[in-house]
Amino acid sequence: MLDFGGRAAFVTGGASGIGLGLGRALAEAGARVMLADVEKNTLEDAVASLQGGNLPEVRGMVCDVRDHQAVERAAQAAIDAFGKIHIVCNNAGVGGRSGADGISLQYWRWVIDINLMGVVHGVRAFLPHLTSHGAGGHIVNTASMAGFLPSTGFGPYPATKFTVIALSEALRDELAPQGIGVSVLCPGWVRTRIMESRRNWPKEYGEPPAPRAGPLDQHIAELVRTGMEPGAVAALTLAAIRANELYVFTHPHMRPPLETRVETFLAAYRKLGPAPQEKQEP
Ligand code: NAI
Repeated sequence: MLDFGGRAAFVTGGASGIGLGLGRALAEAGARVMLADVEKNTLEDAVASLQGGNLPEVRGMVCDVRDHQAVERAAQAAIDAFGKIHIVCNNAGVGGRSGADGISLQYWRWVIDINLMGVVHGVRAFLPHLTSHGAGGHIVNTASMAGFLPSTGFGPYPATKFTVIALSEALRDELAPQGIGVSVLCPGWVRTRIMESRRNWPKEYGEPPAPRAGPLDQHIAELVRTGMEPGAVAALTLAAIRANELYVFTHPHMRPPLETRVETFLAAYRKLGPAPQEKQEP
């Protein structure tokens, strides 16, 4: 997709952070945008911040990505408003603690329901539309470098991000013949409100987990506070959509640990000995 002018986009988690950065970048590139988010007031502020000037139309829709019917309603509202949707960013997500020391099942469910099922709901809601309108399209799923690097510990966050990467890779292969591109956004630390994710904790999961303020938590909070600006992440994402690239990497300093990880796989595999020779065709 080389040109965003005249296109339309749908962005979940669009009220703040990376989602708002994506919404702004898409609008500035000429696309009409529907921001979807569970936080009504923040969403209204976000939409207002993108209205006026020479930007194309930007709308907002309150939507909890855990609820597949809510996502379907938001998708239909976007289609009704803009006709065709070309770019779908399944970005809403929550972050938080890892560690093998007793994360509650409610916490696991909350993270999985948003970070994983939210992506599944977004893909399911838009796929029939994207594949039938004939104008091509692109899906961006927000994962994280936590989906590649195991250093983030035992917990739902890296588990969901690993899965979002796997689903995106599979989806890309499946949709390429239909002219639909898929990218997976894998940022390192970004300056957003992710450390305040519990602000959206729904009552039905019971009591929210107590905030943690140990040295590691404080270190991570500092990395986020001094992280990349969402606008810079969004610019790299739009470039990847234009070039139809699968992986959107943003933090060059995370390449060495990624190389170490790949080398770990290869070293384990080498223990099996050399691969058998392929049979030559006569
Ligand atoms: P953020 O907290 O600033 O923005 C997340 C947005 O998602 C918020 O507007 C929030 O209201 C919304 N949201 C939360 N639950 C929702 C639900 N059930 N339905 C709809 N919307 C919901 O955080 P950030 O960092 O912008 O997060 C966006 C994505 O980026 C997430 O998927 C996160 O995992 C990912 N990410 C963030 C990194 C960072 O360092 N900030 C690094 C790597 C990935």
